[in-house]
Amino acid sequence: MSGTNDTERSTPGVLAQTSGAMLGNRIGGSSVFATRTFASVNPARPAEVLARFPDSAEAAVDDAVAAATAAQRTWSAVPIPERAERIAAVGGVLARDKAALALLVAREAGKVLIEAGGDVQEAIDMASYVASQGRGAWGTVHPSELADKLCWTTRQPVGVVGMITPWNFPVAIPSWKCFPALLAGNGIVIKPSEHAPLCAEAFAAACEEAGIPAGLLNVVHGYAAPAAALARHPGVRAVSFTGSVPTGRKVAVAAMEDGPRLVSLELGGKNAMVVLPDADLEVAADGLLFGAFGTAGQRCTSTSRLVVHRDVVAELVAVVAERAAGLVLGDPTAVGTDVGPVIDAASADRIHTMVGAAVDEGAEVVTGGRRVAVDGCEGGAFYEPTVLRGVHPGHAVARDEVFGPVLSVLEVGSLDEAVEVVNSVPYGLSAAVYTRDVNNAMRAVAAIDTGIVYVNAPTIGAEIHLPFGGTKHTGNGYREAGTRGLEQFSETKTVYLDYSGRLQRAQIDNRPPVAGAAPPHADREA
Ligand code: UN1
Repeated sequence: MSGTNDTERSTPGVLAQTSGAMLGNRIGGSSVFATRTFASVNPARPAEVLARFPDSAEAAVDDAVAAATAAQRTWSAVPIPERAERIAAVGGVLARDKAALALLVAREAGKVLIEAGGDVQEAIDMASYVASQGRGAWGTVHPSELADKLCWTTRQPVGVVGMITPWNFPVAIPSWKCFPALLAGNGIVIKPSEHAPLCAEAFAAACEEAGIPAGLLNVVHGYAAPAAALARHPGVRAVSFTGSVPTGRKVAVAAMEDGPRLVSLELGGKNAMVVLPDADLEVAADGLLFGAFGTAGQRCTSTSRLVVHRDVVAELVAVVAERAAGLVLGDPTAVGTDVGPVIDAASADRIHTMVGAAVDEGAEVVTGGRRVAVDGCEGGAFYEPTVLRGVHPGHAVARDEVFGPVLSVLEVGSLDEAVEVVNSVPYGLSAAVYTRDVNNAMRAVAAIDTGIVYVNAPTIGAEIHLPFGGTKHTGNGYREAGTRGLEQFSETKTVYLDYSGRLQRAQIDNRPPVAGAAPPHADREA
């Protein structure tokens, strides 16, 4: 293999490798090491190195695509129910190791344990859901315009899929992409976030242990170079990306340079919760605390805006601010921690700059607004859960994704105004409306321009058997998970079977060409 200096069989027990071990790229079923490496660190204590990984260049991507191409030929001949059984088995391994994996997610991505467990659970659920699709309908059957002819659709694998995955759902999102891609018969190369390479390794190791053939799922670590190489690689037929809008644009352009190629983008959000005067404010406050400050606000579905009727704003903001101020920041693996660190110092700086700019534009910090130090977590980038009041739709903090624990409060006087504010941003992922009036709820559901709308539930918490994705700058029309999860990883083949034994011409032989002409099939013998 090129660009590498050592190859050996991959070692099991990735989960045990959290004390600075050197790990390789996973190519063709082997661990492939490199001289240039980077460290995966615990964001709560960045001096704590979990493992080191190759800082890969393009050559590693070439090798991984070659391995995936070879393995895909054999895999695509495996009957679909058998592929499904292997995916179900991966779910079994993930379930067996759930506690250890959750601890790893907490240590590498900074998610509090309960949410880290939820991350792993999404992958377990996705395995069982996708496995069930392996015995479901694989296409549709249609009548023909013509006699003695039948038409149907079926799915074909695309070939090799390149995946670029984020750190905030470091087990769940690889599963959203890999399981449908595998079921559809594809080979895979993943470039996981440099912030969560060990979680990706653990996921890939679970796949290997469960019997996903060597070389079918390859992992190449590093920064932008391997991601760009993967996106434009001629051997990669589909590219699936989850991350920010600017990076998503670059990935799409790179993928199309030598395209066309299937490119699915799952980008940012600027999700709003609407609270109307008749809402149960306690339930709304619970939803806000979880939606805005869960995962330290680092979900693409996080509640970033509270669009609230002015009749209830004072009461609701007082409750939310008081409860936000009481949330415990700390080591995500410790019992009692509510909010972990943000992913790194640069992220905390960016969040703090956005809060400062909001204040300059006239917003008021009701609570939070500071970076804080946490005992026992030296160097961890902790940012206080923050509530900003007096935010206007034109303010940068009301339009741009923060990806941190910051909630902007925008006041409105009616449902129509609320909907206008919700829809005023370039993103369209998730929204929530809290009301006890079913008519208002349904009007909001119809008028809000996002891919996901919740009624009396927060903007986070999508379930894996429903389509996930957004409108406008959030995506490019694809959906992950649910019934549409296979679309980005398969091509539709349309088949026409004519068993009439003669030429039949669609659009010609099934209608009289002109009024008064012989009816269709009048020439046929009885
Ligand atoms: C993401 O933040 O990229 O709905 C995904 C949710 C989770 C998935 C979030 N199930 O919040």
